[in-house]
Amino acid sequence: MTTGPQPPSNGDHEATRPGVGRWVVTGCAGFIGSHLAQALLARGDDVVGIDVFTDYYPRELKEGNLQGLLSNPRFVFLEADLVDAPLASLIAGTDGVFHLAAQPGVRGSWGRTFSVYVRDNLLATQRVFEAASGSGVRVVFASSSSVYGNAPDYPTREDSELRPVSPYGVTKLTCEQLASAYAEGTGLDYIGMRYFTVYGPRQRPDMAAERIATALARGGRFEVYGNGEQSRDVTYVDDAVTATIAVMEAGRTGSLYNVGGGSETSLREMIELCQKISGRELDVHYGAAATGDVRRTAADCSAIRADVGWLPQTSLEDGLTSQLAWAASPSTPVI
Ligand code: NAD
Ligand code: UGA
Repeated sequence: MTTGPQPPSNGDHEATRPGVGRWVVTGCAGFIGSHLAQALLARGDDVVGIDVFTDYYPRELKEGNLQGLLSNPRFVFLEADLVDAPLASLIAGTDGVFHLAAQPGVRGSWGRTFSVYVRDNLLATQRVFEAASGSGVRVVFASSSSVYGNAPDYPTREDSELRPVSPYGVTKLTCEQLASAYAEGTGLDYIGMRYFTVYGPRQRPDMAAERIATALARGGRFEVYGNGEQSRDVTYVDDAVTATIAVMEAGRTGSLYNVGGGSETSLREMIELCQKISGRELDVHYGAAATGDVRRTAADCSAIRADVGWLPQTSLEDGLTSQLAWAASPSTPVI
């Protein structure tokens, strides 16, 4: 199904909007993809967004993510599955593909669900790489800090050992290897973003910060998986978006960049900070640790800093303040 007007042909674009970027954003109804599309449109660029509304979390939330985009005449939305969409014609003539679509979530990737990860991460990504190679356009795709597993060194550099401890992480690592094979075999111009736990307004409802923010705003309890001493280098979504656009424009082809916010926090510390910001107490319960969860992440971001000058700008307190305010807003969809 197609929502909104058909994508303009490249000829129209060249003729009517010279000098304006035209991008494909996959997963544009998701958390990071919707912020990315919004940032590109805010610069005056054209965006063709693709999403199939997978059922990992409710469609209503994803439709809410699209709300600010659909009214923009420079945004064209296609409800389509990357596994069988006509990608070659959608990608041809654009300036690049931001490939964010995936089956995310570390802890749910075991068991029978793995087939969904194989489909929406590996098969979908292979189709994007195939189409982009044919068109000669750059693909910037979402990899993950989960490719490292429990890293031997912190902060972790990109050349560290890669030993994912979740099936999800394995699919992300395989996407990186697939990109490398396509570069070797077909000349694919690619860059992979190893995002470290991205947070902020519209974060996925399975993630810790969003569950904490929702419980504080609307009531309900928060279950900690394990003792809460696990820590994450968390990245505010606007900073992740800035990094992603910067590497599309100036990153080195074939790079895999760490994108970490520089705010390492344990889950306990995050809970305390959210309570301080909101002035409310969270109903916290402690349960079993989750299989596939890493103990710690911390990114060495010197490579992306050296290549494109990116540095995160948002402190943990400011970022969580925005997320808590969003969760408490009456206009935020409730599930
Ligand atoms: P999200 O689930 O909010 O967004 C992903 C979107 O992709 C969804 O809207 C989904 O419907 C769509 N999608 C999935 N399979 C598709 C298919 N076959 N065809 C079309 N659309 C499809 O997830 P997110 O948190 O925004 O993550 C975006 C990307 O960043 C993912 O690749 C994820 O693995 C990666 N990542 C996220 C984080 C994080 O902290 N959020 C960290 C590291 C990596
Ligand atoms: C996040 C994203 O979910 C992944 O898609 C992404 O690939 C990954 O970041 C990454 O950086 O690569 P994660 O770090 O597990 O994964 O982020 P959260 O889902 O926010 O979990 C953070 C910690 O909180 C984990 O230890 C988790 O077990 C814990 N948690 C989460 C809870 O204790 N309770 C919850 O209800 C949710």
